[in-house]
Amino acid sequence: MAELKHIPVMLKECVSALNVKSGGIYFDGTLGGGGHTRQILESSAPNGRVIATDLDDYAINRAKENLNEFGDRLTVVKSNFKNFSQVKDGLNINGFDGILLDLGVSSFQLDDRSRGFSYLADDEKLDMRMDASSPVSAETVVNDYKESELKRIISEYGEERFAAAIAHNIAEARKLCPITTVGQLNAIIEKSIPAKFKHDGHPSKRTFQAIRIEVNGELDGLYGTIIEMTRGLKKGGRIAILTFHSLEDRIVKQAFRELETDCICDKSLPVCVCGKKREAVIITKHPITAGEEELKINPRAKSAKLRVAERV
Ligand SMILES: C[S@@+](CC[C@H](N)C(=O)[O-])C[C@H]1O[C@@H](n2cnc3c(N)ncnc32)[C@H](O)[C@@H]1O
Repeated sequence: MAELKHIPVMLKECVSALNVKSGGIYFDGTLGGGGHTRQILESSAPNGRVIATDLDDYAINRAKENLNEFGDRLTVVKSNFKNFSQVKDGLNINGFDGILLDLGVSSFQLDDRSRGFSYLADDEKLDMRMDASSPVSAETVVNDYKESELKRIISEYGEERFAAAIAHNIAEARKLCPITTVGQLNAIIEKSIPAKFKHDGHPSKRTFQAIRIEVNGELDGLYGTIIEMTRGLKKGGRIAILTFHSLEDRIVKQAFRELETDCICDKSLPVCVCGKKREAVIITKHPITAGEEELKINPRAKSAKLRVAERV
């Protein structure tokens, strides 16, 4: 396989948002190609540490090799970042100075056609698992889920207006033979979308996004994880989250709002009875987006939004 590349999105913005400092301790929940981790390690030299997680063996092995020069300043754990507290406690870490999440898939995953993430690889098997040991692949979702579940997933996670037709045509097609390749699914989607609506990017884009989100449980528990992670910061520590579609961005925005909200008692009450306390302040009232120079070299940055909050 040719050497695959992943250009880290808003690298400078992320490291600056995290206020990375020498000797600090950081958590990168989405190691990927290690671009952000490398920058954090360089900016926290000589003794800053990064704990990084990923679900993907290829990403883990490659990043370990490429970041070898940092020695024990980097600890890589194969884990879902949603196991944040377990990883933190397992390593006896009291609190982090900064936490980064760069959500979604990496260019490695999309560009390695054999992983089945890309709708451009007709002959490949439907897979889309970030963690190859997970029992649920895109093939499972497409062949085993009820038509009504498929419709909900494609509509909710893909924001696809023709979700009902696509789900129905999948359910009909699989009665004849299992749907196992990207090409088979592409053909079903293609015939489910009326010609006059096919101008909005590749017809399979939204459905593939939806199935990928389902396969990897990308939105499940994300809200609670953000709250938990923020509580795992030292006072003044920062959490920075990069999202690539509106569903994720909404979750981040709502979680940050919840953390920022102070007492919610009726103003007429003389004392607080709700016990709600502000846990963080939102640093980015509006999300940061990539600048023109970055967009020229990295089209992936186009839909990226960076939101940052600080533990109080
Ligand atoms: C956009 S890439 C990160 C790229 C990385 N920041 C870099 O600079 O190269 C996202 C990575 O996060 C991983 N990932 C996604 N969801 C995850 C989760 N819940 N737990 C752990 N890793 C996850 C993916 O496998 C992928 O490698």
